[in-house]
Amino acid sequence: MIIGGSASQNLAAKVANLLHDRLCPIETHKFPDGERYIRIKGEIPDEVVVIQSTGYPQDENFMELFLIIKTLKDIGADKVKAVIPYLGYSRQDKRFKPGEAVSVKIIAELLEAAGADEVFSVNLHEHNIIKFFNIPAHELSAIPLLAKHLSPMVDDPIIVAPDKGALAHAKTMAEIIGCEYDYMEKVRISPEKVETRLKSFDVEGRSAIIVDDIISTGGTIVNAARILRSQGANDIKVACVHAVLVDDALLKIFSVGVDDVIATDTIKSEVSRVSVAPLIVEALKWD
Ligand code: R5P
Repeated sequence: MIIGGSASQNLAAKVANLLHDRLCPIETHKFPDGERYIRIKGEIPDEVVVIQSTGYPQDENFMELFLIIKTLKDIGADKVKAVIPYLGYSRQDKRFKPGEAVSVKIIAELLEAAGADEVFSVNLHEHNIIKFFNIPAHELSAIPLLAKHLSPMVDDPIIVAPDKGALAHAKTMAEIIGCEYDYMEKVRISPEKVETRLKSFDVEGRSAIIVDDIISTGGTIVNAARILRSQGANDIKVACVHAVLVDDALLKIFSVGVDDVIATDTIKSEVSRVSVAPLIVEALKWD
């Protein structure tokens, strides 16, 4: 049986449909003071899959997830698999300054304390986050799905990683599409500001695809697109897994000449055109 939290209702329905499994009805709402309410309706089998993404509002989505998992255990589930398509708090995966919370480690501990028996997530900010879980935890990659979606839309493009962290994604995408790839070097000045080093690319009159795991403020993509446009790229597409899209991120991206932005539905957004449902379905079939 599949249960979708309020952040992932559509995705949960797609997964249930593909698995020919039952979608459990759930009631969720917010009390007038902001606290969350959940009620699971119907019979609970031994094994339940909960799908809940944890983008904005992160705290509410996590709280809802904890409430669902714990309630399932309380009312009879033996095993709860938590599918968290976008794992919020992942960027605070170290104590960068003394006294800081290692937030994602605490999230991992809370999931386990709530009763999660296994966790699945898509393109973690760092693969090393897996080590914070004491229960089986799996990272799935949506890059092949994005590559297959983009492949018929482009002709001999160059795939560009806007920073070194995205280089492996660019390589995977280039191997699937059958084209070349390269990367840029980026320095983060603050959560809102990044600087990207100028570099020459063979993009004159060609298509380029910028690929990254997350678009948050859009600064990383804006810098990369400006560089590619100034070097003559005639079509720039952006592919990302998690469309976090803070404020007017999309507007900023389109205003520097990006032609198209394609994201997955790990987070619901107006550019979420590739569903990760088939990826989740395959992972749920593992033993
Ligand atoms: C960084 O490590 C990530 O891969 C993304 O490049 C980053 O989160 C994008 O952030 P923004 O859109 O705010 O530049």
